Amino acid sequence: ERIKSYGDIIAAATADEIRSVRPGESIGMRELAVAITLHVAIRVVFSVADADRRTEYTRAVTALMRANTAPLMLVPALRRELGGHGPWARLVRLRDDLDRLLSDDMALRQPDSPAGADMLDVLLSAVDPDATGEPGLAIHDQLRTLLAAGHETTATSMMWALYHIYRDESVRERVAAELAHCRAPAEITALPYLGAVIKEALRLHPPVPIVLRRLKEPLTVGGVACAAGKIVGIALYALHFNPSVWPDPDRFDPDRFLRSRISPFEYAPFGGGYRRCIGAAFASCELAVAIATIMQTLELRMPEREQNRREPRSVARGIAVAPAREITLDVIDRQPVAVTGGGR
Ligand code: HEM
Repeated sequence: ERIKSYGDIIAAATADEIRSVRPGESIGMRELAVAITLHVAIRVVFSVADADRRTEYTRAVTALMRANTAPLMLVPALRRELGGHGPWARLVRLRDDLDRLLSDDMALRQPDSPAGADMLDVLLSAVDPDATGEPGLAIHDQLRTLLAAGHETTATSMMWALYHIYRDESVRERVAAELAHCRAPAEITALPYLGAVIKEALRLHPPVPIVLRRLKEPLTVGGVACAAGKIVGIALYALHFNPSVWPDPDRFDPDRFLRSRISPFEYAPFGGGYRRCIGAAFASCELAVAIATIMQTLELRMPEREQNRREPRSVARGIAVAPAREITLDVIDRQPVAVTGGGR
């Protein structure tokens, strides 16, 4: 229910980010998707609506995300301060900067501010009053986790979905036809073909390419015995390109998701089981509403030279896997339609 209520905020944030885009310009998909997902996260997760304050958050979050490189995440030995110098010390400083903003905003709500519906309120209301330690710090951790796990992953998915929509005119036309009479976020998230386009983009380009578990007990996988304590992973590319489940697996074909029901053992862009992505429903809603708002507001076209190029490779970018090159689209026109969306 809460996620549905975020639909209006997502539409408003997207409309805001494309407000100044004019016909004749070219827009970079990466820049646009990152700006939209960051704007949405700052409003939904941190609940910041004021434009100046949002700029402060955008700066703090962008700097922190840039400093949060894959080597630091994957190699614990690199996480050393070295007398206040080096990449880890920088990351810690930037984390503290963001935490200061969060502490200021949390102090404004506690203890008497009315309970709202943003994620910070949800976390504050979930704090165990009997727990020892400082609850604020645990909440900072949760908020930063939501941001790190949700921002880059959703942004790269948005880029790939837009890439496929504008690369193939027949896909764009079918999505546009569905959107022609549909404005409310609740209707948009229920559109079957748009939903299938997003799912197919996530099949071909899962932003998190491998889902890992540490074994609690011994397990034999495909004839290979693995001891307790070992880490095993599901390679999503292997799963999503298995030709016995996905005929012609390299082809972008959203209709696969309309033709048959797909099992979670065949398709898992959000992982699975007990630790499945907690943001899956939110991300799916965000992708549908943001893409719809872009398509209903701007008439875009992929330049011919990009149409004729090979599909970009996927490369590691932060915690997600993104297109190796920036994709730009030409802005042909702006639609005179008003995009709905209230927001806070
Ligand atoms: C298209 C966008 C996204 C993709 C593809 C994605 C993918 C994933 C995957 C594969 C996992 C690991 C699941 C597992 O181990 O079984 C994960 C975990 C997680 N995701 Fe996402 N995610 C996305 C968006 C989001 C968003 C928007 C949020 C937050 C609002 C979020 C928050 C999290 C968190 C907190 C976890 C850890 C869950 C746990 O360990 O219990 N994700 N995500």
